[in-house]
Amino acid sequence: MANKICIVGTGYVGLVTGGCFAEVGHQVVCVDNDLKKVELLRKGGIPIYEPGLEELVKKNVAAGRLRFTGEIADGVENSEVIFIAVPTPPLADGSVDMSFVEKVAREIAGAMSEYKIVVDKSTVPVKTGEKVAETIRRYNKHKVDVDVVSNPEFLREGCAVQDLMHPDRVVIGVLNERPVARMKAIYEPFQAPIIVTDINSAELIKHACNSFLALKISYANAVAAICEASGGNVEDVAHGMGLDRRIGRGFLNAGLGYGGSCFPKDLSAFVHIAEQLGYDFRLLKEVQQINAGQIQRFLKKIHDTLWIVKDKNIAVLGLAFKPNTDDMRMAPSLDIIRPLQKEGARIRAYDPKAMEKAREILSDVEFCDSAYAAASGADALILCTEWDEFRALDLGKLRSVMAQPIVLDGRNVFDPKKMAALGFVYKSVGR
Ligand code: UDX
Repeated sequence: MANKICIVGTGYVGLVTGGCFAEVGHQVVCVDNDLKKVELLRKGGIPIYEPGLEELVKKNVAAGRLRFTGEIADGVENSEVIFIAVPTPPLADGSVDMSFVEKVAREIAGAMSEYKIVVDKSTVPVKTGEKVAETIRRYNKHKVDVDVVSNPEFLREGCAVQDLMHPDRVVIGVLNERPVARMKAIYEPFQAPIIVTDINSAELIKHACNSFLALKISYANAVAAICEASGGNVEDVAHGMGLDRRIGRGFLNAGLGYGGSCFPKDLSAFVHIAEQLGYDFRLLKEVQQINAGQIQRFLKKIHDTLWIVKDKNIAVLGLAFKPNTDDMRMAPSLDIIRPLQKEGARIRAYDPKAMEKAREILSDVEFCDSAYAAASGADALILCTEWDEFRALDLGKLRSVMAQPIVLDGRNVFDPKKMAALGFVYKSVGR
């Protein structure tokens, strides 16, 4: 059965959710207060790079199941269920800026003249749902009833459409039973396991998941340090660990550590919430330290290899925080490039999708048209993001264009034996 759905916020989560809900037959209106973005979306433009998203949006707009508006009242009046998918950015003290969620809750309250279900999809601290319910009741002139639900989103950038269409599970956190049937109906077409919990548990599931995944990465990076010191190979260790079904191979890739808009922010937020609740989450503080340490250890590796960085031509392959996205938020490449620039290195960079966004935040970098162009004349090449395109490089050609055959691989993309056989000085992480 088609449901009338409004999504407030057309960022990664909101736009992909809107597109996927429309794709399974729901009637969706997406609201954004950025009118330029609304205009762009109406014309068929997509503000982010996400595989499959453009086709999905175009198809569903053409089918009349998806539309965009700048008016929240338009969205609220014409839907039964309203999803909040606005940013919850970090504040300087590690807590989360909840002002966008609160503002949207007030706006929804102001536009509501009949019963609605309001669903929070943004990643939020535990107890937010209770606060949103309180806010809507306080600011609703007509005193109509509302149910607030927590429905955290687990999509990964770069495969967001795929993740949303085929979720591992759907989490629905409620304050009472009333909205459960409608929420299950909305997700029924996705044929995924649905778990219903109290609202606080649902909010905690999201933070607990992201923190646990970050913990796995930091664990792999700590093991990588031991491998380097002892002559082990972290890839083999991760493979051996991963075959244990209780552990699993995912998120055990050692490298430059995690970046992006989620893990760094969500870990800080979870540590901060725990502190407020009277628990010192030292385990996660260590996860953060190991992650920051990966960059320092890699910079040391660069210095140990090049000795003096000043006046060297350094090629950087991969700028986005991970492959298949143009997202530069908290990208490890920035923490590598900036200190090298400070020391006087000349940086020539290439990324398959993120150069436009990188241009806005990096200065004095020469952006090149291809990996080979960036490597041309380089004293060393640093790989920061494991794009498939780099795995397919002609390494002989790469070597022939470089001034010095030195490769520092921050993502363990290349085979050390093959690199040695080709005459490269090759350094990677934990092997
Ligand atoms: C993450 C969660 O996976 C997702 O469920 C949540 O909704 C949002 O946060 P995302 O930030 O898109 O998604 O990226 P993800 O693929 O999880 O990678 C996060 C970071 O960890 C990246 O910087 C990636 O390079 C790094 N990573 C991942 C590793 O360093 N090693 C690994 O083994 C896996």
